[in-house]
Amino acid sequence: MGKILITGATGNVGRYTAEYLLGAGEEVKAASKSKDKVTKLFGNAAEYCEFDFQRPETFDGALKETDRVFLMRPPQMGNPEELYPFLDAVKKKGDIRLVVFLSLQGAEKNPMPPHHKIEKYMIHTSLPYCFMRPGFFMQNLSGVHAFEIKYFDRIVVPAGKSLTGFIDARDIGDISGMVLSRPEGHEEKAYEITGPEAIDYYKAAEILSQELGRKITYTEVSPGKALYYWTHIRGLDEEYSKVMNMLYRLTRMGMAKTVTDDFEKITGRKARSFQEFARENRESW
Ligand SMILES: NC(=O)c1ccc[n+]([C@@H]2O[C@H](COP(=O)([O-])OP(=O)(O)OC[C@H]3O[C@@H](n4cnc5c(N)ncnc54)[C@H](OP(=O)(O)O)[C@@H]3O)[C@@H](O)[C@H]2O)c1
Repeated sequence: MGKILITGATGNVGRYTAEYLLGAGEEVKAASKSKDKVTKLFGNAAEYCEFDFQRPETFDGALKETDRVFLMRPPQMGNPEELYPFLDAVKKKGDIRLVVFLSLQGAEKNPMPPHHKIEKYMIHTSLPYCFMRPGFFMQNLSGVHAFEIKYFDRIVVPAGKSLTGFIDARDIGDISGMVLSRPEGHEEKAYEITGPEAIDYYKAAEILSQELGRKITYTEVSPGKALYYWTHIRGLDEEYSKVMNMLYRLTRMGMAKTVTDDFEKITGRKARSFQEFARENRESW
């Protein structure tokens, strides 16, 4: 078999997908704009390849000798069409057996997030696809929202009292790696993957308080104020913040609360709980 190209190999999910595949003895090409980041994460175990969705001249080199692809949409790329040139290059290569696309829970029903159109484009262009549709990542709380937890002992997100079936990005990496490693039977499939339970952010704060040994509270904030805060006060990327805001609006409407057993069906084990995640990631807060 050929090599496996991992886009977003330095990101939340790509790094665990690559880790899983390296552990399974696969040859991995880790795509990034930065060789240093790849070397820091994988040493010499993964092959670095320079890659940028916005620079088509990097596509051929990245795809060389590969026959499977892990595809993610960088969070700041809000326009789905920005991914089409790379998808066209994958199609043109002709011998790619499977593209696992990191989509989003409910993407098939909801035309607003960019993932909807990307999925449609992959189907329309007859790419051999498998859609991985995860719920909210637990890593949002150890990543973008860690700042308020670490410095102010607060979770600040515009999720209201809604429930979320959080999943650990490590689990998404594991299942994506498993599917890429043995692609047979996963073509034209879509998996909706969540953690073992749906919790609200009050519960998340309670679990963090237990694990960190200090009181963490959840502060409900309106989507409008959150967007202003992220872009004008935190200085986060505007496109990134807009997509994140839209996803929290959907969460408020109850769209993130569904819990499924797709993860267990494919991997044969239970997904990690929020408690396990909090324990393993204490140093983030
Ligand atoms: N967060 C959630 O709760 C959630 C839930 C469901 C779905 N999703 C989806 O998951 C995706 C994000 O995955 P993630 O969290 O693993 O990503 P992430 O950690 O935010 O990582 C960003 C990655 O994107 C790469 N990247 C940035 N700009 C790029 C460009 N122009 N060309 C190629 N690569 C580029 C970066 O690579 P370098 O900087 O190394 O080049 C980095 O590896 C999004 O599409 C998001 O909508 C997220």
